[in-house]
Amino acid sequence: MLILNKTAGIFSKASKRKTYEFLSSFTLHPGKQFLHKIVLGIETSCDDTAAAVVDETGNVLGEAIHSQTEIHLKTGGIIPPVAQQLHKENIHRIVQEAVSASNLSPSDLSAIATTIKPGLALSLGVGLSFSLQLVNQLKKPFIPIHHMEAHALTIRLTNHVEFPFLALLISGGHCLLALVQGVSEFLLLGKSLDIAPGDMFDKVARRLSLGKHPECATMSGGKAIEHLAKQGNKLCFDLKHPMQRAKNCDFSFSGLQNNVDKLITQKEKEEGIEAGQVLSSAADIAAAVQHAAARHIARTTYRAILFCQRRGLLAHTDAVVVASGGVASNMYIRKALEAVTDLTRCTLLCPPPRLCTDNGIMIAWNGIERLRAGLGILYNPEGIRYEPKCPLGLDISKEVGEAAIKIPRVIIKI
Ligand code: KG4
Ligand code: ZN
Repeated sequence: MLILNKTAGIFSKASKRKTYEFLSSFTLHPGKQFLHKIVLGIETSCDDTAAAVVDETGNVLGEAIHSQTEIHLKTGGIIPPVAQQLHKENIHRIVQEAVSASNLSPSDLSAIATTIKPGLALSLGVGLSFSLQLVNQLKKPFIPIHHMEAHALTIRLTNHVEFPFLALLISGGHCLLALVQGVSEFLLLGKSLDIAPGDMFDKVARRLSLGKHPECATMSGGKAIEHLAKQGNKLCFDLKHPMQRAKNCDFSFSGLQNNVDKLITQKEKEEGIEAGQVLSSAADIAAAVQHAAARHIARTTYRAILFCQRRGLLAHTDAVVVASGGVASNMYIRKALEAVTDLTRCTLLCPPPRLCTDNGIMIAWNGIERLRAGLGILYNPEGIRYEPKCPLGLDISKEVGEAAIKIPRVIIKI
C-alpha cells in the first residue's frame, strides 16, 4: 500500500494527468537496447528538487536542479510545508529537463532511483509519489535510495575508489562517520548527538544577519560563513571546540552554537547595535566558529581513522577517507581533514562541491551501484514507504567509544 497521508493525495487525478503529459512529451522507443545501464535519479529529501540521468560508466547524460535556498533564507529556515509545495511545483519540470537533456526517451531507462530516506517527511513524499507513478507507467524497476548512502558513494562516480573506505558525511541534516565496506555495507562509527554542522552554520549565519550582508545575501549559511571567514581573524575569539574530552567518534555542535550566540549578544552590546544588524566583527566570528567546527570534525575523523587502522578495518597506508555532504564543500574544513590524512598516511578524497551538496546525480549513481550489485531493485514497489528517520548501517559507535582511542598530541595545521 502507498503511504496514505497528506502527501499521498498530491498526485491524484490532476497529477496523473501531468505525469501522462510528461510522458507524452517524449518519443517512446520501446524496443531500443542500450549497451550500458541507465538510471534516472530523483532527489527531494530536503530543500532541493533534483534529477539526473547517469549511465553505468558514470557519464552524466542529463541533469537539472531547483534549489529552494533563497526562499528559505527569506523565511529564516526551512518550513516543511513550504518545501513540499515547492517540490510539487517543480518536480515535473526538473525531471523533464534532466531526461530531455539526456536526449533519451524515458523508455530507454533501466530503472528509476529515488531518495526515500532519511529526510523531511513532506519532501520525501513528493519524490516518492511522483516516482511511483512514473515507475508504474513506464513499467521500470524502482530503486529506493538512502540519502546518506548516496552521499557516501558519489566518490566512486568521480574517482576510482575501492571498498573499504572511511566516509565522513557532513551536511545540514546529517553528521556521521562510517566505514563503507560495500554498496550497502556500512559500519556506523559515530554521529552527531545533537545538530549537524551545516545546521549550526545556518543558525550562526542567521544570528549574524548575513542575509543582509551584500556579499552573502544569496548564499547558504555555511557558504556565507566560509566566505566571510576569509576576511576574518580566527584568533580574535577563543571558541572552544566541542567534546574535547570525548574518546568516541560522536559529534556535537549545539554547545558551540550557544557559545557563538552568547558571543554575538555580547558584541552587539559592545558595538551598540540592535539584533538584526551586521556586526563589524562578523568576519572574525565567522572565522572563529569555522575554525572550532573544523578542529572538532578533524579530530573526530582522526580517531575514526586510528580505530579502523588498529582493528584492521583500514590499511595503515594509502587508505581512502572520503568527505561528502554540503559542509564538505568547505575548503577550510577540507584543509583540516587533509592535515589529518597526511598524519595517518591516508588519502583524502572529496567530490567537487556541486556534488557534495544535494543533487540528482548522486541518487542516479547510487541506483547504478545497486543495479550492478543486484541490491534492492524493486520490480513491484507496492507498499514502499518513505522513512524520515533511518540510521545508516550497523551501529558500532559503542565499541568505538569503549576503545577510548587517544589522539596523539600533534598540532593539526590549518
Ligand atoms: O548536503 P546538503 O546540500 O543538504 C543536506 O543533506 O543537509 O547540505 C546543505 C548544508 C547547509 O547547511 C549549508 O549551510 C551547508 O551544507 N554548506 C556549507 C557550505 N556549503 C553548503 N557549510 C560549510 N561550508 C560551505 N561552503
Ligand atoms: Zn545531503
